[in-house]
Formats: sequence, structure tokens, C-alpha cells
Amino acid sequence: MKKEIWAIGGGKGGTGKSVLSALFATRAAGKKKKVILVDGDLGGGNLHTFFNISPDKSSLNDFFEKKIDLKDTLIDTKISGLKLITGDMRSYNPLSVKYIQRLKFYRHLKQLDADIIVLDLGAGTALNTLDSFLLADKMILVSTAEITSIENLYLFVKKIIVRKIKDMLSYEGFRDIDQTILKTVLNSRETIKFSDFIELLKGMGKDQEKIVTDGLGEVRINLVLNQIREKVLSKYGISLKNILKRHYNIDALFSGYVNYNDKVRELANGDADINSVFKIDEIGSSIDFISGNIKKGSDVNFNEL
Ligand SMILES: Nc1ncnc2c1ncn2[C@@H]1O[C@H](COP(=O)(O)OP(=O)(O)O)[C@@H](O)[C@H]1O
Ligand SMILES: [Mg+2]
Repeated sequence: MKKEIWAIGGGKGGTGKSVLSALFATRAAGKKKKVILVDGDLGGGNLHTFFNISPDKSSLNDFFEKKIDLKDTLIDTKISGLKLITGDMRSYNPLSVKYIQRLKFYRHLKQLDADIIVLDLGAGTALNTLDSFLLADKMILVSTAEITSIENLYLFVKKIIVRKIKDMLSYEGFRDIDQTILKTVLNSRETIKFSDFIELLKGMGKDQEKIVTDGLGEVRINLVLNQIREKVLSKYGISLKNILKRHYNIDALFSGYVNYNDKVRELANGDADINSVFKIDEIGSSIDFISGNIKKGSDVNFNEL
């Protein structure tokens, strides 16, 4: 099996990125995979609490600051096959992690002995977060059905796209000409339709158009809805997918949804055991379903909701 990195992001805090990262990782370990769960929420990491692990253990901080080997930051969990890298940075400023360090981090991450690496990116749209997201094999975005959360996800995708295009254009030597356009797109208050954006770039030449189209083809987003309280809200997943197609010309996949459940809430306080949460039928089966979809690149269709 090819080693895969799954990155979980989504702009807004509190949607359930950490919970879902932990559940995806636990499930994969249950399938006898070698799994590493990474708390990439530098500054606000809390994954260790889900596994009742003390925050004093070595963390990513030691990799970035003390230059210890990444494999020496691995911590065993009670779940067989699942190791954790914590992101508890306390006084550490995540923005100070340089691009080069990030690339090194990625290189080392890929070399770790694992079948699957689950990377919880935390909230926000810092460049580090966007870059890590774009480097992953599986790009997963989590939102609740709340409008603010959906708006954040939408903005996250926009930033992802702009970042991707900017990267590709500068790589191909179009850095200067396209800065102005990209700035306009990023700063616009209303959403610029992506088709209009493509038109703008087309006017600048065939090469730019191709670069943009190819770049977007590489952005394969898996959407997950979480904390769903009424089944009807799960249909937002389909709407979101359609909106991303219409506005950004992105083929996102709606991988599935997870219900709101009180036991899951307790997990974040360290009051519940992750395996027991997994055994709650509606949670375990959703995580199975969603993981399967992400792995296969399949998604939910309207009739299944
Ligand atoms: N499906 C769910 N049902 C109930 N509570 C949830 C669910 N998913 C997440 N939560 C709760 O929401 C809060 C935020 O979750 P967390 O995973 O820490 O979010 P994030 O990592 O996106 O900031 C936590 O208290 C968590 O227990
Ligand atoms: Mg989190």
C-alpha cells in the first residue's frame, strides 16, 4: 500500500477537525494499518487530550526548535498501531515556522514508517496551513452546517486556489504579471466568479490558462459535514459541492457527514475513551463510510441522504 498523507483543515475553529482526525486515525489503526496522527495545530493543539497523553512529552516544537529527529517525537498511544506527534507548542509562535522548515517537515514526515499519516491542520488560513493542505494526498475540509462555518470553508477554498495558482504561475515565470489579478481576486469583498477569473487569465496568454486549469485539477477536496443535528442539513454537503463547482470550477467530493453526539463532545475534554466513542453506532459507521469514500475517491449522492 502506498503511504498516504491525509490533511484535515477547514478555516473555522470548533468544527471538529481534531475529533475527526482522531477518529479517522483510530479507525485506520483498527484496520491493522500503521498510523501516525500529527497535531499540526501549532499553538492550539489538543489531540493529546483525546488519548490522555501528557503535553510534556516531546512535540513538533522539539523538531522545529531543537532539531531532534521527527521519529523521536512519536508517542505511543493506547491504540495499537497508532502513534501521535503532538503539536503543543505553548509559547511557540507557529508563524515563525519558515517555509523551508515546513518542506523539511514534510520530507521527514513522508519518511516515517506508516501506511497513513493523518495531519490535523487546525484553524485558520495561514500560508503554512494552506501549503500543508496542498501538499497532502487527501485534502479534507470539515464544516458544520452553520453559516459561519460554511462561509469559512468557502473562503478557505478560495485561498487554497489562489495559493495554488500563484505557486504555479510563479514557478512558470509569470510571477509579476499575475500578481495584480491575484490581489484583486483575494481582496474582493464579493466573490469573483471563477469563470471570470479564468477569463482574465486567458487574456494574458494560452500558457497561463493551461497552468491554471491543470493546477485546479490537482486540487481534490473531500468535504465532510460534522455536528449535524437534523438529517436534512446533511444536504448542505451537496449544495457546497455544487457551489464550489459553479464558482471555482473545482470538483469537490462530498464524503459524508457525522451527527452531533454528546459522547463525542466529551472526547475533547478527555472524559471519554476514543474507542468507546468509535463504538457508538451512528459515529462508527459514519467514520467508516467517510473514510472509505476518501480512500476510494468516491462520494455521496443525493439519494443516499
Ligand atoms: N460530532 C460531534 N458531536 C458533538 N460534539 C462534537 C462533534 N464533533 C466535535 N465536537 C465537539 O466540538 C468541539 C470542537 O471540536 P474539535 O475537534 O476540537 O474542533 P476543531 O479541531 O475543528 O477546532 C469539541 O468540544 C468537540 O468535542
Ligand atoms: Mg483542533
